[in-house]
Amino acid sequence: MTDQRHHAPATLRNRDPILDVLRGVLPTTGLVLEIASGSGEHVLHFAQNLPGLTFQPSDPSPAALASISAWMASVDLPNIRAPMALDAATWPWPVTAADAFVCINMIHISPWASTEGLMRGAAALLQPGAPLYLYGPYRRAGVATASSNEAFDLDLKARNPAWGLRDLAEVAALAGREGFSGPEVTEMPSNNLSVVFRRR
Ligand SMILES: C[S@@+](CC[C@H](N)C(=O)[O-])C[C@H]1O[C@@H](n2cnc3c(N)ncnc32)[C@H](O)[C@@H]1O
Repeated sequence: MTDQRHHAPATLRNRDPILDVLRGVLPTTGLVLEIASGSGEHVLHFAQNLPGLTFQPSDPSPAALASISAWMASVDLPNIRAPMALDAATWPWPVTAADAFVCINMIHISPWASTEGLMRGAAALLQPGAPLYLYGPYRRAGVATASSNEAFDLDLKARNPAWGLRDLAEVAALAGREGFSGPEVTEMPSNNLSVVFRRR
């Protein structure tokens, strides 16, 4: 039978730096909803290293859901739920509560409606003080965008004109309108940012 596990090479490089930030951001117990889980490699790593939490992976792509399930079948982890089909841009969602959100590398590789849906959904599900963690490359006023990120932006827009690096101030303004405080920003390797918003 074909191995349905996808491998995204960047996950091996960024999963530990992200985990370090998540240790200080996530609660010690509860349910973490991951939006746009992709291959599923991140959620496996986080579940292995944060055993007090339960993780709910999700993605709208059937191939991603198959990959997540295949990775889960290769390990014995009691704290990951079966992946669910979830398109952030389409409400209602098949989940009604979460204690934290994690969303890695989605908002620049999807139309803006996905970010709007993510914020709206997170606002509906999270309790006051609960975190929404985002990771990826951003544009920032007063900070030169790395040439590698400018090239990435051009590549994204060539693939889909609705994609591209987001301006952190615009993301923060949207989050503020949806009822979040923040952002708390951590600079990450390879010119990426960890961005945390908290439900007010
Ligand atoms: C570049 S991949 C990132 C996957 C993974 N988080 C990672 O960092 O390796 C982008 C993912 O976003 C998902 N995605 C795109 N639009 C989405 C949406 N509207 N709601 C949720 N996920 C979406 C895609 O299916 C894909 O799995």
